[in-house]
Amino acid sequence: MSILDRHKPIERHVTLLLVLSFLVVSIGGLVQIVPLFYLENTIEKVAGVRPYSPLELTGRDIYIRAGCYVCHSQMIRPMRDEVERYGHYSLAAESMYDHPFQWGSKRTGPDLARVGERYSDNWHVDHLTDPQSVVPESVMPKYGFLLNQMIDGTYVEELMATHRMVGVPYTDEMLQNARLDFAAQEDPNLDYTGLQERYSGAQSRNFDGQPGISEMDALIAYLQILGTMVDFSTFTPDANR
Ligand code: HEC
Repeated sequence: MSILDRHKPIERHVTLLLVLSFLVVSIGGLVQIVPLFYLENTIEKVAGVRPYSPLELTGRDIYIRAGCYVCHSQMIRPMRDEVERYGHYSLAAESMYDHPFQWGSKRTGPDLARVGERYSDNWHVDHLTDPQSVVPESVMPKYGFLLNQMIDGTYVEELMATHRMVGVPYTDEMLQNARLDFAAQEDPNLDYTGLQERYSGAQSRNFDGQPGISEMDALIAYLQILGTMVDFSTFTPDANR
């Protein structure tokens, strides 16, 4: 009996053929997919990248709510024109704590991946309040109302716990101090040493220049940290592996 003859019963029974094909495809699929779950990390670790502080994370939520991502990308491609305009191309690690990521898909406005520390807080307040006052031809909408929306971080601990569920390494200590850190980042008169220890390089100041914590404070705290966590004067891709 040749091997082809032995194969005949399989080819003549549709159901048997289906069941066996399914088995073969499943095994093939498992062999490819299962090892991915055992990989520690598919993203190269890079020094300096840390989870967002409570205020920055709140600002990020406002960024998403306001739909900034509809007009702005956060992803500098490794092409010469982009690197010359925006700075070092984006690393995978730089968005490893972004859930969901904010790479965007359209640039009506410029890429924001490295906008942090490029402008003063005042510039951001003026620009967000009335973009046309600083860039007359701008088509960006006005977001001045953020100055009047006061926030106190009531749910920031829950927000962080949610991010922890999807893999951001917030510690218990970070969660317990969430509201303290939230307030300390906006008011440098409070004790912000804990904030600095937990979130290295967190900038602590009154971002919007008015008393109290507004959504404007949170949004600017977020914008000012974008792209600043990695020190590119010392970064070499291989040394960090
Ligand atoms: C309708 C599209 C649109 C939306 C929505 C939008 N922007 Fe813009 N944005 C622009 C355009 C166009 C520019 C370039 C002109 C200018 O500076 O205003 C810009 C510029 C900027 C700049 C200056 C970037 C640079 O490198 O000069 C920042 C910062 C910025 N936007 C932040 C935001 C934030 C934060 C939001 C959400 C609250 C937002 N934008 C929403 C269109 C948009």
